[in-house]
Amino acid sequence: MIKTAPSILAANYITLGDDLKKVADAGADYLHIDIMDGHFVPNMSFGPGFVSAIRKASELVLDVHLMITEPEKYIKQFAEAGADIITIHTESTADPEKVIDDIIALGVKAGISVKPGTPVESVYHLLDKVSMVLVMTVEPGFGGQALIPDTLDKISPLRDEIKRRGLDVDIEVDGGITADNVKELTSRGANVIVAGSAVFKAADPKAVLSEFKK
Ligand code: DX5
Ligand code: ZN
Repeated sequence: MIKTAPSILAANYITLGDDLKKVADAGADYLHIDIMDGHFVPNMSFGPGFVSAIRKASELVLDVHLMITEPEKYIKQFAEAGADIITIHTESTADPEKVIDDIIALGVKAGISVKPGTPVESVYHLLDKVSMVLVMTVEPGFGGQALIPDTLDKISPLRDEIKRRGLDVDIEVDGGITADNVKELTSRGANVIVAGSAVFKAADPKAVLSEFKK
């Protein structure tokens, strides 16, 4: 099943409540929340207080994407804020496996992400533990970028490895995804589709999300 995860980085922050309702009514499965620290990525966004506010305003699955250095220092706060899934970057910490274990111990699903330049095989040893692998299709840090075509080559081998080991792990893709290129991702085995600009800047978000699910 294909799941959709609108990235609220591209929402209207002044009328956020309306935007959240709009994507929920349009059939979104998750809300993707991008957390940036101005260190791991050259941009800043939201903190745990924001996630907590979203938790009160929405019943959708909160998919928290941590683009921060030393995520181990903050996972507890994001868990307490109401995150359902916390994804860390394998490049962001000395011991990703320990952080994954700690996220799971907090009662939250764990995801592991790779930047475009990081081989996806580097996270294969974590597949038994994580619920999701996030394959970045742009350099993390900003919405509205164009998808990097080479990143697609990671998806089929990853899906094959998950199948070979008989695991149930989602493959999420994030960055530059539109109704025009989504098929190239889902046909390779991606099943959680993040999109910011393509959803929130669309005249008809429902049509875009339906296109993703086709
Ligand atoms: C980028 C973020 C993405 C971003 C996607 O660092 O991880 O989630 O919001 O935005 P679009 O869909 O506009 O590329
Ligand atoms: Zn993201």
